[in-house]
Amino acid sequence: MSTTREEVVSTICQAYGKDRGRLLDIARDVQEKLGCVDGKSVNRIAEELSIPRVEVESLVSFYSFLYSELKGQVRISLCNDVPDRMKGADRIAAELEEELGIQVGETTPDGRFSLQYASCIGQSDQAPAALVNDLVVPRLGPATARTGVQILEERGEFKDLQRLLIRDYGDGNNAHDLVRSASNNNLRRAGEVIFAEMQRGAALERALAMSPVEVIREIKTSRLRGRGGAGFPTGMKWEFTRAAEGDRRFLICNADEGEPGTFKDRVILTERPDLLFEGMTVGGYAIGAEEGLVYLRAEYAYLRGFLEHVLAERREQGLLGKSVCGREGLNFDIRIQMGAGAYICGEETALISSCEGLRGDPKNRPPFPAQQGYLGKPTSVNNVETLCCVARILERGSGWFASIGSQGSTGTKLLSISGDCMKPGVYEVPFGIRLREVFEMCDAEDPMAAQVGGPSGQMVGEADFDRTICFDDLATGGSLMVFGRDRDVLEIATQFMQFFIHESCGYCTPCRVGNVLLKERLDRILAGRGELADLDYLQQLGESIKMASRCGLGQTSPNPVLSTLENFRPAYEERLSDPVEGEHSSFDIHSALSTAQALTGRKSVHFEE
Ligand SMILES: Cc1cc2nc3c(=O)[nH]c(=O)nc-3n(C[C@H](O)[C@H](O)[C@H](O)COP(=O)(O)O)c2cc1C
Ligand code: SF4
Repeated sequence: MSTTREEVVSTICQAYGKDRGRLLDIARDVQEKLGCVDGKSVNRIAEELSIPRVEVESLVSFYSFLYSELKGQVRISLCNDVPDRMKGADRIAAELEEELGIQVGETTPDGRFSLQYASCIGQSDQAPAALVNDLVVPRLGPATARTGVQILEERGEFKDLQRLLIRDYGDGNNAHDLVRSASNNNLRRAGEVIFAEMQRGAALERALAMSPVEVIREIKTSRLRGRGGAGFPTGMKWEFTRAAEGDRRFLICNADEGEPGTFKDRVILTERPDLLFEGMTVGGYAIGAEEGLVYLRAEYAYLRGFLEHVLAERREQGLLGKSVCGREGLNFDIRIQMGAGAYICGEETALISSCEGLRGDPKNRPPFPAQQGYLGKPTSVNNVETLCCVARILERGSGWFASIGSQGSTGTKLLSISGDCMKPGVYEVPFGIRLREVFEMCDAEDPMAAQVGGPSGQMVGEADFDRTICFDDLATGGSLMVFGRDRDVLEIATQFMQFFIHESCGYCTPCRVGNVLLKERLDRILAGRGELADLDYLQQLGESIKMASRCGLGQTSPNPVLSTLENFRPAYEERLSDPVEGEHSSFDIHSALSTAQALTGRKSVHFEE
């Protein structure tokens, strides 16, 4: 007897106990089985979970990896971040368009292939790269891209894409039976914190010899600061979470890694998952959480089976689950929460929304996640690398850790290096290293600029090459893109702005509209129609967006413009047509945004007079 689509949906909802909080998983599973989450599926999910239809619909429309209509059986998502474009992603797109007879964004009439762009798939060290369904296909060339499609076209069935498209697996655990990926780690420099050998259980044993408060004190003494970008002291975050009122607490590992050009967490997840899970278990003990989540970006779905396997091994060894290490009453387990393609979900409150089965909308703060986070309970969100540092601090001591790096930034930092250099990849370096040394390390010959910290960071030029990588100088969550002398900084800034426009959740006007206005003005300058007054406009609008936006995305999105204006002003000036005195000399944010506000019927609270 055949099963109807509605029955499939009902079975999936039942498997999640009809829990509204698991809506994202339900939608992902429905799509996995049926190819998309269409109107009928939306209706049935809403019915099963007893929620309004619009809640399901708006979730599906939010995430770029969820589809309301059938896509091709083979979905080619070509990465079009800046490093991929530098290595020829546009040419690959053209080849694929020609071979498939469709444009990017379309599906072939026979429903076999879709071609689309993806923001950044976390493989910038082996660009150009694409995801073919969940399969990573890195190091694409025009010929290999065409051949890949031809192989699939000839076969006509797509059950085992891996066997059809991948000839050689990558290094290290990429070749593991549960990973089988062509991605390479490109681990060029292993340091003593993250990539040193580890002994499973050693850090946990040391932690359990202390009280939770002593563990937090040890982390505070190490002066560990979060590696996800903001550099917040981890010990302090844990202290707040532990002290907050709540009958349950949660620890969430942020493995969203969406900042373009960042891929260091991918390599940790491939090579040191045990260190991460050990750090999470130590964290659970310290803050009093029994439940941990790893929020894994959809682009890294190929690692999920392997990670589940490592978790299962740890459960078998008594390092996870009930009575951890045989200690009565000490329970901690970890579940993997898959994302579905949204950069904003890396922001911790948006990430919590996403874990709760909602659209990845950032939440207002306060309350902070440490006070009211996942399911309204005290929650600590920590980056993958941060949690690995935690495990190593417990294993080797806070004094040892604090002796590495600089005064304000202790330990090592993983850099994900891409762009114009001979040796792109992951480098574990002590904090305090000079940018110039980084260039030498990755064989970047005569660079013109570096984007430190991804699009939300800053573009620096030669005058800054003796500055150091650390929280007090050039801070980065990991991304470092190198640009040679033939690159156009304005074009790069424009591409970064396009990224932010695409990824803005749209909640507040300064970010939703302001970034579009910035990009329009950049386009005008690029087209040779800019005037001197446009530079003031960019500066003032950029500063206003930063100041008035609700979350970290909007608060950093103008950085590509502001930092290039500061460090590469001649690149703007040489493109200006004759300045027309006074035409745009007075900038008024209210009038700039009023049209959009009228159209949307929403007025940003930040601009109320
Ligand atoms: C738009 C945006 C995207 C972010 N993406 C990530 C991310 O992918 N991974 C991450 O760890 N932190 C990311 N963050 C920072 C998180 O909000 C949060 O500060 C971090 O996960 C805390 O971990 P840490 O204390 O270990 O750094 C992002 C922040 C913003 C504003
Ligand atoms: S700043 Fe941007 S991403 Fe953040 S809430 Fe506002 S619109 Fe959404």
